[in-house]
Amino acid sequence: MMKTSGAASGMQVAPHGGSVHKWHERLTPMSKPIDLFKEIWHQAKREGTLKHRNAVCVSTVDADGYPNARFVDLKEAEDTGFVFCTHLGSGKAHDIARNPKAAITLWWEHVARQIRIKGLCEPLLPQEADAHWASRLRDAQIATVTFSQSCALDSLESLEGTYARAVAGFGEADIPRPDDWGGFRLRPEYIEFLEFKENRLHRRTAHAMVDGQWHQRFLQP
Ligand SMILES: Cc1cc2nc3c(=O)[nH]c(=O)nc-3n(C[C@H](O)[C@H](O)[C@H](O)COP(=O)(O)O)c2cc1C
Repeated sequence: MMKTSGAASGMQVAPHGGSVHKWHERLTPMSKPIDLFKEIWHQAKREGTLKHRNAVCVSTVDADGYPNARFVDLKEAEDTGFVFCTHLGSGKAHDIARNPKAAITLWWEHVARQIRIKGLCEPLLPQEADAHWASRLRDAQIATVTFSQSCALDSLESLEGTYARAVAGFGEADIPRPDDWGGFRLRPEYIEFLEFKENRLHRRTAHAMVDGQWHQRFLQP
């Protein structure tokens, strides 16, 4: 019976036994998965030792229908969605312009969590992009205005020289946000949490947005 009641079996709650983690214990029909996400994210950042603790994998769909995945920094996670920033001429931006369906995946080993998110991407407003631009380090700003992300590069040797000339050229001047840099907000329609268990009895909780309401169910490991 367990084998046949898979992810496509509606919103039933699968039976489970033994102890469950506190997040699962606190789940109610009113639980908002974004609140769970934020709790786990903040814990993962607090307890993490990696330098780039906000890196998450964003998958888009390319022109040939292939999944196209890469890491980006997650800037915000709010009720309205998950925000990341990028060049608007990049591969991911072109993919999203053709097909706004995208996914975010992450694995934070130190808190034993995998999280999978699916939804639709929409561009950030210019004032939102300005705020994120202002929070970037100056060398990242200079790299952004100097290079056209994902376009072909003549030679690796030219990278350092081009960048050094740009740094010298800007001097102390402010670097305004270029029109072709901004970001996207992925509005989630599906969020799944997996609490990894060494005995493979992973705790999986799937939340799906149906008619404007979150519905949840447990999934077999
Ligand atoms: C840890 C890490 C963080 C990254 N953060 C970003 C980011 O926030 N925005 C971005 O455009 N690229 C980021 N990148 C680079 C992307 O992985 C990717 O190479 C780039 O965005 C071009 O991808 P695309 O052509 O598929 O759009 C990051 C890479 C790594 C490894």
